[in-house]
Amino acid sequence: MPQTKIAGIGHYVPDQIYTNDDLTKYMDTSDEWIQERTGIKQRRYAKKHEETTTTMAAEATKIALERAGIDKNEIEMIIFATLSPDYYFPGCGVLLQRELGITETEIGALDIRNQCSGFIYGLSVADQFIKTGMYKNILLVGSEMHSMGLDFRTEGRGVTVLFGDGAGAVILQPTTEENQGIYSTHLHSDGTHAEELAMINPGSHGGRHLGKEKYGYPDEANPGGVFVTQKMVDDHLLSPNMTGQLVFKTAVRKFPKVINEALVKNGFESSDIDMLVPHQANLRISQFVQKSLGLKDEQVYNNIQRYGNTTAASIPIALCEAYLEGKVKRGDLVCLAAFGSGFTWGSALLRW
Ligand code: UT7
Repeated sequence: MPQTKIAGIGHYVPDQIYTNDDLTKYMDTSDEWIQERTGIKQRRYAKKHEETTTTMAAEATKIALERAGIDKNEIEMIIFATLSPDYYFPGCGVLLQRELGITETEIGALDIRNQCSGFIYGLSVADQFIKTGMYKNILLVGSEMHSMGLDFRTEGRGVTVLFGDGAGAVILQPTTEENQGIYSTHLHSDGTHAEELAMINPGSHGGRHLGKEKYGYPDEANPGGVFVTQKMVDDHLLSPNMTGQLVFKTAVRKFPKVINEALVKNGFESSDIDMLVPHQANLRISQFVQKSLGLKDEQVYNNIQRYGNTTAASIPIALCEAYLEGKVKRGDLVCLAAFGSGFTWGSALLRW
């Protein structure tokens, strides 16, 4: 059975840089607080009303295609991971297909909604398609335009300062080369705390979890109910919320566990890892994970300082930069791991 290799990788981040100091113009925060708690120095924001999650994904894809040496019409399947899609529906997969101009082949397009672990989930799905011989060229992207949905008031600072925009893409192909490809992927979830890191409006929940009064649902409405209420707008309930400390504490437990799971499954130890590319949620989380696995600085790649948390895009952006900097080379043992909203988490172990 063939294994799945990353044949080409690309990333795109928008031009506009917003430093921590820039954010102090909109909310009560400081460069010191943000750097001390998260390690973030700056993030990128897409050009509103011009760039979208899909257009950024298209830019990353063009580079990945070129590096893989294939034409867009050779793509047999699109897998698109994002929590900040252009539309409520349809998903970004078909929008990317159109944006790339793939009009003749009528390939499948699948959208993945697993937030921070979306890229790992997408990689796992693609890996099954490739290993079974169903497809030979899969495009997997993670792309996020968070800036459009964040609350830039002081009330939103606990979430807003963390996130940035960007995209990463890989072309996945089968390989029968010795010492190359994905060894295994490991996926997990626990919905107990689903609302602790979430953007629940607009949605069909109708107030089931916290009561319909919180969202201002009227008693009498049409048979379908009201999708977006005035209270949601007035109370800024159309932005993400997070119980940061719960997320932090759970993340630092789950990351090492799921990385070890991948190592044990394949008979490796943490010292064998050439590069760990963790989802970029918080530099403190990455440092904690590094310490608990006993990894050296050169075994872990971090770029959250420059981009903030780009959710589904963070692993492919970081992996791409590590590759471009020569820190991930042919034959290297690379571990990818993520944890986030859901909660969902996962890991992938591969030979580059
Ligand atoms: O991708 C996966 C999803 N996300 C994560 O993994 C994030 C996990 N959580 C975290 O990284 C951390 O919990 C945060 C960085 C989000 C927050 O750090 P913390 O040390 O847990 O701070 P906190 O939420 O306990 O807040 C401490 C104080 C509060 O003030 P009081 O109540 O002590 O007076 C907050 O209001 O810091 C305040 N605060 C801020 N101050 C300045 C919260 N956000 C900010 C801010 N600037 N941006």
